[in-house]
Amino acid sequence: MRVTVVGAGYVGVVSAAVLAYLGNRVTCIERDPARLAAWRGGDDPLREPGLRELLQRVDVRFAPEATDLAESEVIVVAVGTPMGSDGRPDLEQVETAAAQIGAHARSGAVVLMRSTVPVGTCDRLQNGPLRAQRVVSNPEFLREGHALRDAFFPDRIIAGGPADAARGVEELYRRIIDRESLPDLDDAERSSAPVPFRWMSAASAELTKYAANGFLATKLSFANEIANLAQAVGADAAAVLGSMGLDPRIGSQFLRPGLGWGGSCFPKDTRALQAIADGMGYDFLVLKAAIDQNARQLRGFAAAIERALRPRSQVGLLGLTFKAGTADTRESPAIALARLLLQAGLSVNAYDPAVRDLPAEPRIRVRSSVLDACEGADAVVIATEWPEFAAMDLRAIRRATRGDLLFDGRSLIAPSSAAAAGFRYAGPTGFVGGAIETKAVTTRLGTAA
Ligand code: UGA
Repeated sequence: MRVTVVGAGYVGVVSAAVLAYLGNRVTCIERDPARLAAWRGGDDPLREPGLRELLQRVDVRFAPEATDLAESEVIVVAVGTPMGSDGRPDLEQVETAAAQIGAHARSGAVVLMRSTVPVGTCDRLQNGPLRAQRVVSNPEFLREGHALRDAFFPDRIIAGGPADAARGVEELYRRIIDRESLPDLDDAERSSAPVPFRWMSAASAELTKYAANGFLATKLSFANEIANLAQAVGADAAAVLGSMGLDPRIGSQFLRPGLGWGGSCFPKDTRALQAIADGMGYDFLVLKAAIDQNARQLRGFAAAIERALRPRSQVGLLGLTFKAGTADTRESPAIALARLLLQAGLSVNAYDPAVRDLPAEPRIRVRSSVLDACEGADAVVIATEWPEFAAMDLRAIRRATRGDLLFDGRSLIAPSSAAAAGFRYAGPTGFVGGAIETKAVTTRLGTAA
């Protein structure tokens, strides 16, 4: 089939590469000239493992505008829906793409909405600019850093829209559903059972995406609450959470406590889900609490560091990305933490294996190694769970630091190893014996109340 993908970000390029691998003729449209030039030059500005290599093997044409929309049987919308100032997604890019598709695409073409959009958006576009096409909500569940594995070996494929589009969409994903001739990825799923393909209404598919991210974020907030409580009562958070996870109804993933969740999806999608509920006059108590807890977690961690240090002390901050395995710093808890520490009058020298500079944050001094960032520091703070931080030589770091405090915001280091290297250790809930912050918090990650 001829496929046009609008948007060359994470979801767009991964969708384009996968659909090309499955045998379709794919054009990917990108309006940002720098990003377009990078893809055309064979580079991967997203640094997603395996993506550049896959693009060398398949035929994806990158173009600045959609000249062949009229020939496309499938048009994938994968543009950004960033969080607007009121917490609702900004749909400007979706509206622009829809107007263009409505004006040029052939009648009956399937428009796959892969951008995360508020419930009701697909139906609204179907009854508006895309009335001649068939609008299908087809949310993605890709994790940054594992995007190809998640795209070729998904846990489920969710899609919803006009009933006469169902078969075509299922056929588009046939080889993925049947696990037939897919690439041999290191972290590939070995199961041979077909991938569940769930067809539903567009509104249900749209809500499924928010529900999944909202639930995962809530699970993390709950795990962080248990970790805080474990500290307060003198229990071992790792033992408690690890044992909880053995119950298959709970599951062991997404129980690692930390200084809070972030990234381009969870903060935006939880706020959007809350806005959807608010818009219907529904008070989504659990979700609101999960969002508030996340802001409190970060502030509590920052407050514990502030309490332990004298004004103008120096912090060696390890990690700037929102999680390991990505160069993405959007809504990164590490950067939100750095801002809080700077606001408190501390100075911050940071190191992250995937970040060379941070032009938007000139007060965070980005160094080129762990030791450089920790040189002369009064406290070392781990803010991202990069494996190299788990394996670092703590004694060498301790020789470079001035102070002996190690704040491990990602539960990466065994307290006994920290102590053996001469550090006083604190986990993500703050210093041992420290009080848990309970005062009012804002719901926007990183903005102080
Ligand atoms: C998330 C979802 O996991 C994907 O399924 C979804 O498709 C994607 O959002 C999206 O909506 O596009 P991603 O943002 O790449 O993927 O990040 P995750 O790996 O889910 O991590 C989110 C945050 O939770 C990170 O800050 C991470 O450090 C934190 N986290 C995760 C923990 O603190 N503890 C854990 O045990 C797991």
